[in-house]
Amino acid sequence: MTLRAVVRGVGHYLPTRVVDNAEFEATLDTTDEWIRSRSGIERRHFATDNDTTSTMATAAAKAALTDAGLEADDVDAIVLATSTADLTFPSAATMVQAQLGMTRGFAFDVQAVCAGFIYALSNANALIASGQARRVLVIGAETFSKIMDWTDRGTCVLFGDGAGALVLEAQDGAGTAQDRGILATDLNSDGRHRDLLYVDGGVSTGTSGYLRMQGNQVFRHAVEKLASTAHTAMDRAGVTADDVDWIVPHQANIRIIQGTAKKMGVPMDRVVVTVQDHGNTSAASIPLALSVGRDRGQIKEGDLLVTEAIGGGLAWGAVVLRW
Ligand code: UT7
Repeated sequence: MTLRAVVRGVGHYLPTRVVDNAEFEATLDTTDEWIRSRSGIERRHFATDNDTTSTMATAAAKAALTDAGLEADDVDAIVLATSTADLTFPSAATMVQAQLGMTRGFAFDVQAVCAGFIYALSNANALIASGQARRVLVIGAETFSKIMDWTDRGTCVLFGDGAGALVLEAQDGAGTAQDRGILATDLNSDGRHRDLLYVDGGVSTGTSGYLRMQGNQVFRHAVEKLASTAHTAMDRAGVTADDVDWIVPHQANIRIIQGTAKKMGVPMDRVVVTVQDHGNTSAASIPLALSVGRDRGQIKEGDLLVTEAIGGGLAWGAVVLRW
């Protein structure tokens, strides 16, 4: 028998403020046509004065708990992927713990930028497989609007805010690829590429800083590394492209999503795409896509999913799971 981390609930939160591409035309030398054709993005949500990373994460977590039919104290741990925690510390995860009214267990943040949710899933899976937790809330939440340089047209049109969450629960599996739950994970990073995507602030500068990206350089790495990590995770899980019901990719750019699916040998009608509505929400993008994909009726119990992401670090990885 193998202990599997099985999805029991899913939920998301998007701030009410929706900004179309056309809004940027007033302040930047850009067009709706450029943003759509180069990235696939049509609109994104931005945090209002009432939204922070922890409040959005809490809203997504509540939705996931309701979906699972559980209370906060039924959960043993919170693993929150974010690069935009409310404060340097304490962790956004402990803020969520308090906001949920959770009086037991433990909570911590994972910081792997756009790959954060993949890293958080992998950590949560390890907590469950090793018996340290039976139920884990895994959240991705970001307010990238707080680290945008609104004069940099190469970045500020691409990102958005939001949060998504899963409740993972320990369940016995047979140890085969037919089991529900996380079947395999693959994590990678290469710190030599730090200058391609970083924030130019932090405790060393006394400012929170702004996101800086050499977009076309990140693009060069993306398709190859994403397809490679997905294949590694699929090999570990003992599945092939024909077995995959849905790729649920990090939603940064439709051209990266299409290129990766093609390299993986999976047609686009088996890819969950939300980038047009959310933009790039970094660590929130995969749980948002999982929740929206489930709500659309795309993702169903028993489906085989491959999720993959790459971002600052560079850090990248993939998770294969049966929903
Ligand atoms: O999630 C974390 C990982 N991040 C990513 O995966 C992002 C990966 N990169 C990308 O998605 C794409 O590289 C971008 C969407 C950022 C850019 O697309 P691109 O096809 O790589 O364009 P580019 O950076 O090579 O820029 C082409 C041109 C440049 O002008 P010149 O030098 O050719 O005259 C840019 O200055 O487009 C210009 N440009 C813009 N034009 C209008 C850059 N941003 C804009 C803009 N509006 N907003």
